[in-house]
Amino acid sequence: MRKQIAAANWKMNLTLQQAEALVDELLATPFSLNENQQAVFGVPFPYLIAIHNKFIGKNNCYVSAQNCYTKKSGAYTGETSVEMLTSIGITYVIIGHSERREFFNESNAMLAEKINCCLSNNLKPIFCCGEPLQIREAESQNSFVETQLKESLFHLTVEQITNFIIAYEPIWAIGTGKTASNEQAQQMHKHIRTVLANNYGLDVANTISILYGGSVKATNAGDIFAQPDVDGGLVGGASLVAADFAVIINSLKK
Ligand code: 13P
Repeated sequence: MRKQIAAANWKMNLTLQQAEALVDELLATPFSLNENQQAVFGVPFPYLIAIHNKFIGKNNCYVSAQNCYTKKSGAYTGETSVEMLTSIGITYVIIGHSERREFFNESNAMLAEKINCCLSNNLKPIFCCGEPLQIREAESQNSFVETQLKESLFHLTVEQITNFIIAYEPIWAIGTGKTASNEQAQQMHKHIRTVLANNYGLDVANTISILYGGSVKATNAGDIFAQPDVDGGLVGGASLVAADFAVIINSLKK
């Protein structure tokens, strides 16, 4: 069975003190993860070490960066390399979030470079894709997402893409309270898996966890995660409330 993953994306929120209090509260809240389930916390750069330390010894909990740079090292003031992240024990990084694509002009080709850097340093990318509202309204979402996958991922070998994590986040559902319906989520996740299967074979496609993101809440996570091709969620706003994120973790498929 594919890994079932509840991933938090804190985005640019919280002070260090608030972040630590959030984790303390979450760890004091009953939630459980079996060996096939994971909780991943996408934390702002300055807090990575502190939050990573809080999860040491907590089974199946991991800390993720929210971004990294395309180059290995060098004169790139203000950027963070994958080697820096792995040197502090970080195992995941969110790549290609729609906010980075929109506000920082990250292209599919640039994301392919970031992914290459990650894979050469054993950092696991959580690769985000998803369409804006006008593409959904034009019913072109399938080809739009397929192009995102092709241009950023399909140069990878079977070994590299096995056990990959993809997050489908329709932009019109992010932070809007407007979740994709269970059917819309399942339809797109199945499409993504079919596109992967066409390129890498069904066995490989079936190893890849595909998370849904966009207004996942404690109240709707169970229904969305129950869809056959949805393997958990990438959660923004609701991951900032310990009790809500605990419910979301407990909503993962067993
Ligand atoms: P919300 O859960 O706040 O809609 O954010 C989703 C998201 O962008 C996660 O990466």
